[in-house]
Amino acid sequence: MIAAAGSGTRLGAGRPKALLPLGGEALIRHSLRAFLEHPGIGPVAAAVPDPGEASAIVGSGDPRLLWVRGGATRQASVRAALAVLPETDLILVHDAARPFVGRSLIDAVIDAARRHGAAVPVVPVPDTVKRQAPGGFVDATVPREDLVLAQTPQGFRADLLRRAHAAAGDDLVEGTDDAMLVERLGEPVAVVPGSRANFKITTPEDLALAEAILRSGDGSAVGG
Ligand code: CTP
Ligand code: MG
Repeated sequence: MIAAAGSGTRLGAGRPKALLPLGGEALIRHSLRAFLEHPGIGPVAAAVPDPGEASAIVGSGDPRLLWVRGGATRQASVRAALAVLPETDLILVHDAARPFVGRSLIDAVIDAARRHGAAVPVVPVPDTVKRQAPGGFVDATVPREDLVLAQTPQGFRADLLRRAHAAAGDDLVEGTDDAMLVERLGEPVAVVPGSRANFKITTPEDLALAEAILRSGDGSAVGG
């Protein structure tokens, strides 16, 4: 499934982020293509702010594509997409805001999720990490050796993902990703190497960088 129902506040375009143009087509088209062209992928639910608008702009040619109205939070959007997905062994959850997801990463996540139940792609933290104190001073430097940044697609055995979302709903827990909801059940989440090319478009600078990567036509910069 694709989580694409965010408003893109930090991007500040005044339109839903997933429908903004990137490389001449809607942002969400890039990740939709990656999943719909993957031979191991079945139905794809895409949670968007307005299914009618999204299918008009992006198209609904592929019968495996299910548009669904998202919710106020990312977690609510994933739940809405879960509700329309048919029964299956594995479910991948991907952010539309990561257009450069590649075949090899999808393969690695599927493989690890099948073996371990849940899998998340991660990248090392490149910068020194500090905690700031109130008043404009550094409180401490945080050791970063064990820290990693979580990406999507995250993969799960379907029953585990559904159970994790149900439990989070019961407990009124709001997670920023899906792996977190599985972690709090005490279930293992495997890590697989992510890719810096698979970055999330959050700010206008990120969108400009993504445009530049596509314009350069340098396939080595993408495919994460
Ligand atoms: N998302 C979603 N439903 C929401 C909020 C977010 O499906 N209610 C999706 C976004 O569309 C995005 C992904 O979750 O693909 C990651 O969220 P983020 O990058 O934070 O996107 P936005 O929430 O749209 O951006 P912002 O936080 O700046 O408003
Ligand atoms: Mg957000």
